[in-house]
Amino acid sequence: MSSKFALITGANRGLGFECVKTILRQTDPYHVLLCSRSVAAGEKAVASLPSSLSAPSRVSVIELDVTSPASITAAVASVKSLAPSLSVLVNNAGILEGEQTLSTNFDAVLAVTQAFMPLLADGSCITTTSSSCGTRFLASLPPQDASDLSSSELTVPELSAKITELSNKPDVDIYSLSKCAVNCYTRILARAHPELHITAVSPGFTNTGMCANYTGTRQPKEVALGATVFHEALFGLGKGRSGIFLKQNSSAGTELKDAETIETAWST
Ligand SMILES: NC(=O)c1ccc[n+]([C@@H]2O[C@H](COP(=O)([O-])OP(=O)(O)OC[C@H]3O[C@@H](n4cnc5c(N)ncnc54)[C@H](OP(=O)(O)O)[C@@H]3O)[C@@H](O)[C@H]2O)c1
Repeated sequence: MSSKFALITGANRGLGFECVKTILRQTDPYHVLLCSRSVAAGEKAVASLPSSLSAPSRVSVIELDVTSPASITAAVASVKSLAPSLSVLVNNAGILEGEQTLSTNFDAVLAVTQAFMPLLADGSCITTTSSSCGTRFLASLPPQDASDLSSSELTVPELSAKITELSNKPDVDIYSLSKCAVNCYTRILARAHPELHITAVSPGFTNTGMCANYTGTRQPKEVALGATVFHEALFGLGKGRSGIFLKQNSSAGTELKDAETIETAWST
C-alpha cells in the first residue's frame, strides 16, 4: 500500500470525487480514503475511476456520515486499521439547504477535524471546501460582529457561540453563515497548529448535484475545473502555506490548462 494517505469526506460524487482523482494523479503514490455515508455509493464511485489511476488498489472506501458522532468514531477506527497516519484531510462534505446545513457544513467540520487530528503528522495538510459566499458574508456583517469573528484571539467555543447567535437572526443565509464559520475555524486552526498547512478553498459555482435545482442564468463551471482548487491548495499555490483562502477564479468553459486559482482575503 502507498505510504501517504489522504482522506476526503463527501467523496463519492461531485467535487469530493474529483478531489479523489486529483490526489490519485499526483506522482507521489497516495492512497485515498474515500469517505461516503453510503458504502455502496462509495464503491460505485471507485468502480467508475479510470483504470489509469490504478484504483481500486489505491483507494479504500470509508463509511462516514459527518453529522454522526458514532460514524466518526467508527471511521477513525477503520482509518487506524489501514493507515499509520494521514498526510491530507479534505473536509468536503456539505449541503446547500435544510435544517442540517449548519451542523453538516460547520459543526461536522469541527468534529471530523478534531477526531482525525491525532493522525495528522507534522507537515500534513487540512483543507476545507468553503465558498466565496462565506467571505462575502463576513464582509456584510455589522462591524462589531465582523471584528469579533476576525479577532486573532477568537477561540473555537467563542466562534461556535457567535455562529449560533448569528444563526438566530432573521433572514440570515445559513449556507453563507456556515461557510463563513468554517473560514473562521480555518484561521483559528492554522494559528493553533503551525506544524500543519491549513487552508480553505472556494471551487466557485460548479455543476454538481448541489446546483441541480438552480434556475438562474449563471453558468456553473465544469466539476474538473472547480476541483483544480484542491490541486492548488494541496500541491500548488497553497503548498507549504497555512491560514489562507484560495478561490478557483475561472469561468465555465475555461480549459483546464488555463484554470486560475487566486488567494483572496477572508472578507471580500
Ligand atoms: N457546487 C458548487 O457550486 C459549490 C460552490 C462552493 C462550495 N461548494 C462546496 O463543495 C462541497 C461539495 O459539494 P458538491 O458541490 O460536490 O455537491 P454534491 O455533489 O451535492 O456533493 C456533496 C457531497 O457531500 C456529501 N454529504 C452531504 N452530507 C453528508 C453527511 N452528513 N455525511 C457525509 N457526506 C455528506 C454527499 O454525500 P451523499 O452522496 O451521500 O449525499 C456528497 O458526497 C460542499 O461543501 C459545498 O458546500 C460547492
